[in-house]
Amino acid sequence: MRPVFIDSPWFGGDYNPEQWPEAVWDEDVDLMRRAGVNLVTVGVFAWSLLEPEEGRYEFGWLDNVLNLLHESGVKVDLATATAAPPPWLSHQYPESLPVTADGVRLSPGSRQGYCPSSPAYRRAAGRLARKLAERYGSHPAVVMWHINNEYGCHVSRCYCEESASAFRRWLEAKYETIDALNVAWGTTFWSQSYGSFEQILPPRATPAFPNPTQSLDFDRFSSDELLACFLEEKAILRELTPNIPVTTNFMGTFRNVDYWTWAPHVDVVSDDLYPDPADPDAARGSAMARDLMRSLGRGKPWLLMEQSTSAVNMRPVNVPKAPGQMRALSYQALARGADGILFFQWRQSAAGAEKFHSAMLPHAGTDTRIWREVVQLGAELATLGSVLGARTQAQAVVVFDWDSRWAIEQAGLPAASSYLALAAHWHAALTEAGLTVDLSRGDEDLSGYPIVIVPSLFVMTDAQAAAIDAAARAGSTVLVTSQTGIVDENLRVRLGGYLGDLQSTLGVWIEEFWPLGGAWARPGAIPVTPESTVVPTVQVRGDVFGPETATGIEWSETVHVRDAAVRAVFEGGHLTGWPALTRRSHGAGTAWYLATRLGREDTARLVAHLIAESGLQVRTPVVGDELGFVETVQRGEALFVINHGPTAVMLAQDGTDLLTGGDARGMTLESQGVAIIAPRVTLDSEDDAVGAADERVRIPR
Ligand code: GAL
Repeated sequence: MRPVFIDSPWFGGDYNPEQWPEAVWDEDVDLMRRAGVNLVTVGVFAWSLLEPEEGRYEFGWLDNVLNLLHESGVKVDLATATAAPPPWLSHQYPESLPVTADGVRLSPGSRQGYCPSSPAYRRAAGRLARKLAERYGSHPAVVMWHINNEYGCHVSRCYCEESASAFRRWLEAKYETIDALNVAWGTTFWSQSYGSFEQILPPRATPAFPNPTQSLDFDRFSSDELLACFLEEKAILRELTPNIPVTTNFMGTFRNVDYWTWAPHVDVVSDDLYPDPADPDAARGSAMARDLMRSLGRGKPWLLMEQSTSAVNMRPVNVPKAPGQMRALSYQALARGADGILFFQWRQSAAGAEKFHSAMLPHAGTDTRIWREVVQLGAELATLGSVLGARTQAQAVVVFDWDSRWAIEQAGLPAASSYLALAAHWHAALTEAGLTVDLSRGDEDLSGYPIVIVPSLFVMTDAQAAAIDAAARAGSTVLVTSQTGIVDENLRVRLGGYLGDLQSTLGVWIEEFWPLGGAWARPGAIPVTPESTVVPTVQVRGDVFGPETATGIEWSETVHVRDAAVRAVFEGGHLTGWPALTRRSHGAGTAWYLATRLGREDTARLVAHLIAESGLQVRTPVVGDELGFVETVQRGEALFVINHGPTAVMLAQDGTDLLTGGDARGMTLESQGVAIIAPRVTLDSEDDAVGAADERVRIPR
């Protein structure tokens, strides 16, 4: 297999020349050269041109595009074009269109209009992938395969008849007998016992809650079914072009596909991410997505496959990125392990559904802010080869699990929750405290991390419980938060007080959930949504939070202590005096349990406590970051400092800034400013020559 990366970061974007007359293509490659573009993704949405009618292929135009790019020294990530089936497919095979839970068959005329289980779609997609591999597998420009595009983005669940029978096959392979399924799904409740697999349907619209385990299995099946589409195409490409790496673009922390099961199947993890510039917390959310990508690839470099240069057009209001923000967010990706920065798309469309989505080359041409920022970034990246391949170092891990996500967001639970919000809250708190965070499904060795956070691991497997326990024993500071260890993989409650096997790790067990919202709960002043301006809260008192009380949000529960120290208690309401925060020494480490949710400041206080306990030293390389928007990440020998805040800060760190060549200490970092600080190294051979002026920066890999 050829290496995915070269000695300079990949830089470029989706290139869709089919939207333009050929006369424009020469200008494209000329401008690509000026911008430093070295990789483009071609053909993502070109199926209807590549195969205008079933079995008739027209590759002439694509030959010309690839040859032109090759002559210009631009490499190609060639798409298999299967994400947007052409009109003829659904015309000839109407059953290939997806169906929603309430039985509506979606119409063509957009994109992703296919049922992942449709044999007609699968056959046609496989045929096209084969044709492309046969024709372009040895084209010198092609360095990577881009299978499909953003699997599940628009259609991640299909409820049609084809999907129903694929679901049955998946269930039969999983459970083997209908009796085993009945036990797993708890079908004795509400008279749901099945006599055969033939009787089973996807969880279509039902009168009341659908069976929870049926729904979770359908979530798992739907993720696997999309993966099966990917694997079918991958097998064809591997057979014909074993040396060309394959990828498909993930979508950050996307809900509907379990990326832990996908990641081992891609040769390089790649990501599409569109943080909202109108959101002051955008950089916090994107930090988590990038950490997830690195973690999915087990620390290996990944590829930012798509981002916008400025505004998108998918939101009700699409705010442009602030001057410098695209650059700052690009460096965030590089800091967190990306070895390439690409965009959707190269030239802004003049027609079609995304013509108001920004691009590298805007409608107004090259005398524009966006173009200048693109050219600047391209030129800078070309000098940063020394950063590539290096590992980003994390000091903490947050457990992030799709089964728990799907299950805790079902109906019929003690309270509605957003799993992503719960996990992102802890990721952001650790990041703001200056740590870099990995993510993990939680069923692997976690013991190397000084800090391990387990937010609401609702569905907990034995392997996860064992890994969490082992981390604490081995010396980690572990914090488990409420609604962890409630059910097993089949959503059967772990009886005997909640928390399952973690009861012995934490020294506590949970008797009863007490979500806030009852008459006694104190309405706090923490806005959640415009519709509900307050959330119910309860006071929490304990030394960890100092002399003031902390505020517990949305959730409380009755915690019984067997063998742990109570570090904070609830105050006010029915649970006054009951534990809200506990700590137990466990082996060489500690195991904390938090029985409520905390706001930002209280969380920061608890995190500071955990950091102190873990013995980690957190570096603060800037002065003046009162607002806490400066991001610091160590990648190999390079320290990335990125100011996402509105005001300037000053660097207080020795070393050389790789972007300016200047001394880092004392440098001002304006809003959206970036420094990449490398330790100064004096080259021996030049020691005597000129002294300080001749210092060079070297970054060991
Ligand atoms: C992605 C997609 C691109 C483009 C982009 C716009 O979802 O892969 O084709 O639609 O978003 O932000």
